[in-house]
Amino acid sequence: MSPEPISRRRALVLGGLGVASLAAGATGWAITAQTGGGELAPPISGAPLAEPPILDSRGGRLQVELTAASGVRLAGRDTAALGFNGTSPGPTLRVRPGDELAVRLTNRLDQPTNLHTHGPRVSPQGNGDNPFIRIDPGAWFDYRYRIPPEQPAGTHWYHPHHHGTVADQLFGGLAGALLVDHGPDLPVDHDRVLLITDITLDAGGRVVAPGPMERMMGRQGALVLVNGQHQPDIPATPGVPQRWRLINGCVSRVLAIRLDGHQLTQVALDGTFLPAPLPRDQVRLAPGNRVDVVVRPTGPGRYRLRTDAVDRGGMGGMMGRGGGEAISWPATLATMTSAGTPVSAPPLPAALPADIPPSGSVTRSRQTAFQMGMGAGGMRFTIDGRSFDPDRDDQTVRLGTIEDWTITNPGPLAHPFHLHIWPFTVLASSDGAAPTGTAQDVVLVPAGGWVRVRIPFTARPGRSVYHCHILDHEDLGMMATINVQE
Ligand code: C2O
Ligand code: CU
Ligand code: CU
Repeated sequence: MSPEPISRRRALVLGGLGVASLAAGATGWAITAQTGGGELAPPISGAPLAEPPILDSRGGRLQVELTAASGVRLAGRDTAALGFNGTSPGPTLRVRPGDELAVRLTNRLDQPTNLHTHGPRVSPQGNGDNPFIRIDPGAWFDYRYRIPPEQPAGTHWYHPHHHGTVADQLFGGLAGALLVDHGPDLPVDHDRVLLITDITLDAGGRVVAPGPMERMMGRQGALVLVNGQHQPDIPATPGVPQRWRLINGCVSRVLAIRLDGHQLTQVALDGTFLPAPLPRDQVRLAPGNRVDVVVRPTGPGRYRLRTDAVDRGGMGGMMGRGGGEAISWPATLATMTSAGTPVSAPPLPAALPADIPPSGSVTRSRQTAFQMGMGAGGMRFTIDGRSFDPDRDDQTVRLGTIEDWTITNPGPLAHPFHLHIWPFTVLASSDGAAPTGTAQDVVLVPAGGWVRVRIPFTARPGRSVYHCHILDHEDLGMMATINVQE
């Protein structure tokens, strides 16, 4: 399989960012990091898709130990990238509604870390999904999460969330899937996790650090990986449906995924089922989003799973020449290899077990703005003009209420809005995209636009955060606190 041709424009843009210059050789990739001067050997592509080990709850409980450390295999080579328990992605954690999840996280990194369970409706307090916890190098922490009995079955994930190091650690490879399982819910033959990340490695297998401009634009790795593999092969049988749980674990890259010769039937978004299967030519995932699709191979053959180009905006207007564009470039993610005798499998049910968000009257509306502006020390990334301060309460909300929030984005880059703990439904957006009616936890706010969401704060008191899920922006200050009080 040959890699995507890299346009001259792409090479120029990346070169202009001072990160890496790329050239597609006849045999594969050659990536030269300007700083290291080394060359990344062609990654190994075309191996069968591997899935991270699954750690399953038993008798209402899952107890796991996760150790974050450097040294994992990625794209078929030994690297100094980061992983949990020696792999990137880390193990897939699978729990059921009502379960207790106990995680001991040990930090073998050289900087502070912590853990965020992105998606499940757990408490943000104490040793729950508390983003204010700091685990220093050499230390460990015992997390305990209570998955509520009413938690819908779905696809979530986990990643570090220590402010200031989130982007580096996720880019380095620290992420894993977290599934809530409710028994068989779809007539599919394979149920696969496809955790998509991106990374840039130098010749020595070290993670290449982004420059200041790249952080501002939101870094994008030269390699796009699926479960830590480069362009793996997904075996399939004509007619036999598979469920693919797509997770966008990239720091900044927006994915626009399609499968050659096929429609993708979307069944879920951010861990909740849609009301009905939705056939789509392409599914879009901002960083942090999950989309579950069902794929039914139409016939024998090899079909590429691709992500198309997405324009995230640009900073030319703010930064003048050299401001650059933020484009998520096209890439091949994987290849579906469909072979064997066609089988006729039952269709998907017409209705899916969608989770209906609680209704009631809206007691309050607020506005909050993602803002970028020049400050004394360079570009500032703020929410409502303020950089993140863990000790300040930015929004105070009364438990039991329902609110409408309008997130505005006057700037030139799109920012994915993410709220922890309290999933929301999208009501409307300046780009006119049709809302799904179901809950989600990340939505892309268009450049120069806005998104309006409805948030039921009907359960789970405590303090948490909302932020831009371009995690470079989050680390640069584009995060705010929210305190839901009884
Ligand atoms: Cu996936 Cu606050 O993050
Ligand atoms: Cu999150
Ligand atoms: Cu942002």
